[in-house]
Amino acid sequence: MSKKKLIAGNWKMNGSLAANQTLVQALVQGLREPDCDVVVCPPAVYLQQVQQLLAGQTAIGLGAQDVSQHDNGAFTGDASAAMLKDFGVRYAIVGHSERRQHQGETDVHVAIKVKRALAAGITPIVCVGETLREREEGMTEFIVKRQLSAVIHLNGHCISEIVVAYEPVWAIGTGKTATPEQAQAVHAVLRAQLKAATDQADRVRILYGGSMNATNAAELLRQPDIDGGLIGGAALKAPDFLTIVAAAA
Ligand code: PGA
Repeated sequence: MSKKKLIAGNWKMNGSLAANQTLVQALVQGLREPDCDVVVCPPAVYLQQVQQLLAGQTAIGLGAQDVSQHDNGAFTGDASAAMLKDFGVRYAIVGHSERRQHQGETDVHVAIKVKRALAAGITPIVCVGETLREREEGMTEFIVKRQLSAVIHLNGHCISEIVVAYEPVWAIGTGKTATPEQAQAVHAVLRAQLKAATDQADRVRILYGGSMNATNAAELLRQPDIDGGLIGGAALKAPDFLTIVAAAA
């Protein structure tokens, strides 16, 4: 399988004009022609700034952390896929567990957001993952399949255009990474589910996320069904992010 790996930095609600400039400049300098796709996802208010900082280079693409499930209208605080597209956004994280938890996003919302992103030519990075309790109850497979199934149900005809990110909730920001074997096992489940939906399933990149860092990235990225990473904390430190990109190349 010769698809390029994808390393996406999810900055979450971090950064400032000054900090973003320092970080992006270090990344641009450190990445000439990476052998994998690289994306940074700043908070929405900084998309225009980061778009400008990335102008004139092709190594790093721009991503958003969310996209509205609506096209336009009375949805205070939302940004539509078309608006994101106006600022050169090529990827959008959809259904991150923090949004499912704090913003009440359901599987159905996530599926609609994926549809909006795809319609605008933005690649959705669809997040799935179980909580610690769900894992302990043996529900991991059931949960991730349910989450992905909603997205497949609504977007079946273009499901090979998405990126999936498996992010066990218990591993996010906790320093507890899934072992390569635990992650690979879930990735294989997701791959099989995609295979049942499309004959292009091998094209779909399935990222791992959850405390991936400069030390553990290489081993995770060696697993047959791990096609990249969605990086939170370590994406805010240029040397760490660059090390992860190098591990993917
Ligand atoms: P983390 O976050 O790398 O800080 O665990 C990953 C994510 O939530 O996307």
